[in-house]
Amino acid sequence: MTAKTSDFWILIVDDDVHHRAMVRANLEQFGYRTLEVSNGRDAIETARREHPNLIIMDMRLPECDGITAMREIRAFDPQVPMLMMTGYGTIETAVQAIKTGAYDYLLKPVDVNDLQSAVENGLHFGELKGTASAEHAEASLFPGIVWKSPLIEEILKTVSAVAPSDASVLITGESGTGKELVADAIQRLSRRAGKPFIKVNCAALHEQLLESELFGHEKGAFTGALEQRKGRFELADTGTLFLDEIGDMAGTTQAKILRVLQSGTFERLGGTQTIEVDVRVIAATNKDLKQAIEKGAFRKDLFYRLSVVPIHLPALRERRDEIPLLAEHFLRRFAVKNKKPMRRISAEALRIMVNYNWPGNVRELENAVERAVILGLGDSITPDVLPAHIRGDASRSPFSTTPDQPTPVAADTGEPLTLLEQAERDLIIQAMIACGGNRTKAAEQLGMSRRSLYTKLKRYGLETQRDKDGDEGE
Ligand SMILES: Nc1ncnc2c1ncn2[C@@H]1O[C@H](COP(=O)(O)OP(=O)(O)OP(=O)(O)O)[C@@H](O)[C@H]1O
Ligand SMILES: [Mg+2]
Repeated sequence: MTAKTSDFWILIVDDDVHHRAMVRANLEQFGYRTLEVSNGRDAIETARREHPNLIIMDMRLPECDGITAMREIRAFDPQVPMLMMTGYGTIETAVQAIKTGAYDYLLKPVDVNDLQSAVENGLHFGELKGTASAEHAEASLFPGIVWKSPLIEEILKTVSAVAPSDASVLITGESGTGKELVADAIQRLSRRAGKPFIKVNCAALHEQLLESELFGHEKGAFTGALEQRKGRFELADTGTLFLDEIGDMAGTTQAKILRVLQSGTFERLGGTQTIEVDVRVIAATNKDLKQAIEKGAFRKDLFYRLSVVPIHLPALRERRDEIPLLAEHFLRRFAVKNKKPMRRISAEALRIMVNYNWPGNVRELENAVERAVILGLGDSITPDVLPAHIRGDASRSPFSTTPDQPTPVAADTGEPLTLLEQAERDLIIQAMIACGGNRTKAAEQLGMSRRSLYTKLKRYGLETQRDKDGDEGE
């Protein structure tokens, strides 16, 4: 698919009205679409909100100069190509511009032919970079993590401080708050980066299986143990072991883990040979371990061993200021992944998202945005493509912390959906996601006619504005 110039939005930042108008007129003549601002502050805001495909930026600007603005924009958008313009053609300014991440610079007043070829180069450059790293901040210390709240800033400081040591880290927080992401960051920033990084979900296996998974077993240790097998502790030797969902472990397993943490030694199941390993442990749980200790379900000594450095991730509703940033991050990721021209979130949809309680935290937000990108049409996410329970919850107090999800209701009758209908609705959403929003394919996959899929989309409140307008085209 070849892109047309009208597919591209270019942000022009220049305080000189006449020069700006000249640049705009030229770009529009080539067919590009343009946005204009006159200072660095507005440039940052507009770049954040509109995600232009390219930015043309003057170096000298009121309020916040071009270099500063570029630096700030780079922090949240490592990819957008930026072209500098300067009236002062010195090597120093050019070097400074390139260092901050501009791909080229032009002397003012810009020459039309230079402008055209520089923009073409830039958009091509953007494409290349975009495919090389579709994700956030390769250059960042914390790739894949998006944040702005001071709460998270503090946590990331702790992460960088603790990562290089061999201290055990216990990461707590509700489901979907980013515990695994933090564990990954610790490993990546540690001296053990590049060494084995082994993850075990302790809740997924029951007692004996988990122990054999962790410590390995000798041949004949139990029925079905046909050969000797190394456990995860052995596989993680010299590296890091991530024990996820550590809150649900049997007492004997806890005791064995404690011993490894204390002495670095253990025996395989059914074995007598003592094995010594050098493993750094990172553990995570969404359970309240202090409460589990009181109930006698979790060993106090293990808790203290694991939580040499405790890290607690706040629920998303305790850091609502991050919702817009995260939502936009996911919007861009899923727009690229699904090749949809979505670029923004409507003010109303954003208001709903900020007020919702997100019991499933960042993961739930991520899923809601993916769903909205798939189901939505046009260039923005509007409230109608948000799941009904998220829309419905918005009228409640934004500060209530009850993580309950109201039963979805039928859009046509207002009746609560039966469990069977809820299951069907989920299947339809999944099929729509799997088929990139293509209803013909989704209907095929679901084994239903296109017509009955339409009826159901309508009934379950999943239809989009285009359906309501009566346009059935795919
Ligand atoms: N700050 C963030 N920036 C970008 N993505 C995030 C952030 N926090 C969480 N996510 C994303 O949200 C999802 C859930 O994160 P993660 O799996 O780390 O959570 P978790 O706390 O381990 O959840 P669970 O307890 O359910 O295992 C992931 O897809 C992750 O990439
Ligand atoms: Mg997890």
